[in-house]
Amino acid sequence: MIGNNDASTRERLARLFEDNKGVYLSGERIAGELRISRTAVWKAVNSLKSAGYELTAIRNKGYCLSENTDILSGQGVIRYLGDLNDQLHIEVFPEISSTNTYLSQKALEGAAEGLVAIAGRQSAGRGRRGRTFESPADSGVYMSILLRPEGMLPEDAVRITTMAAVSVCEAIEEVSERQAQIKWVNDVFIDGRKVCGILTEAAFGPETGCLEHIIVGIGINVYQPEGGFDSSIKDIAGAVFTEKQNDGRNHIAAAVLNAFMHYYMPDEQTQKQYVSEYRRRSLVIGKPVSVLKPEGPINAMALDIDGDCHLLVRYADGSTESLSSGEISIRM
Ligand code: BTN
Repeated sequence: MIGNNDASTRERLARLFEDNKGVYLSGERIAGELRISRTAVWKAVNSLKSAGYELTAIRNKGYCLSENTDILSGQGVIRYLGDLNDQLHIEVFPEISSTNTYLSQKALEGAAEGLVAIAGRQSAGRGRRGRTFESPADSGVYMSILLRPEGMLPEDAVRITTMAAVSVCEAIEEVSERQAQIKWVNDVFIDGRKVCGILTEAAFGPETGCLEHIIVGIGINVYQPEGGFDSSIKDIAGAVFTEKQNDGRNHIAAAVLNAFMHYYMPDEQTQKQYVSEYRRRSLVIGKPVSVLKPEGPINAMALDIDGDCHLLVRYADGSTESLSSGEISIRM
């Protein structure tokens, strides 16, 4: 059991180490900077070690956090956030059932727009169409954002998903050398492998039918999980990095938030910009696809993506259709 004071000391010590990666900090210096006793330092160091911080100790030198650590933490994410700090409230969990489920509960309790839940592992991660989303520890970033867009029509909710897809691509390109593409409507691919899935869930007022909130959930495979991907996804899943990066997951989570909040601004110019970015990164335009309708798959040619991110397809009989429903997906 860890008390509130202990927890806050641990947080402050984590921050001190994260700000001084690769530097040995003596017990005396830590005690002085945090204004705590040497015993409290020792307790907090042990608590960080059990939370997975790789701390080396050398007699007469002190403790040092390895330069190449990637521990998901609130402070770690905030360090890379632009000026979003007062628009977002970030909660980081080493493990949770599902960040979407957590935020749905929070939304019902009245939480404000901008609440973000980020987890290092999900025990019941959810994907589209009622599937599970593999969310193993130490390899991915699983995050959800609570939004309460004013006056957004239910049919426009797809914009949130497509904005998130563009934001993930931009984040990947900011933190790595790799190029990311989007398979309509919301899967992000690198070199033909899916590295990110997005699940957007909207809630409507029972009487008004108005949009009450949206939760956009984003799962990114930052690294290959130890032992590889689960057999159910190993032929399709990929990861952003092949090797552990210093702060890889904190950085990518913040980069997604920075990009997403930029596009989420209700200004027409920025919105047009994201649509053209979406189209530019499309994996499907000009390719044969299979449209998976409830009554079965139909072959088609993907022609274009319009300003609302609808996919225009042409069927073998020459008829065309603009696809928008989350119920329809495509196979390439
Ligand atoms: C899919 O590809 O089917 C969508 C996967 C969405 C996974 C993310 S991870 C964070 C958030 N929490 C969840 O339980 N699901 C979403």
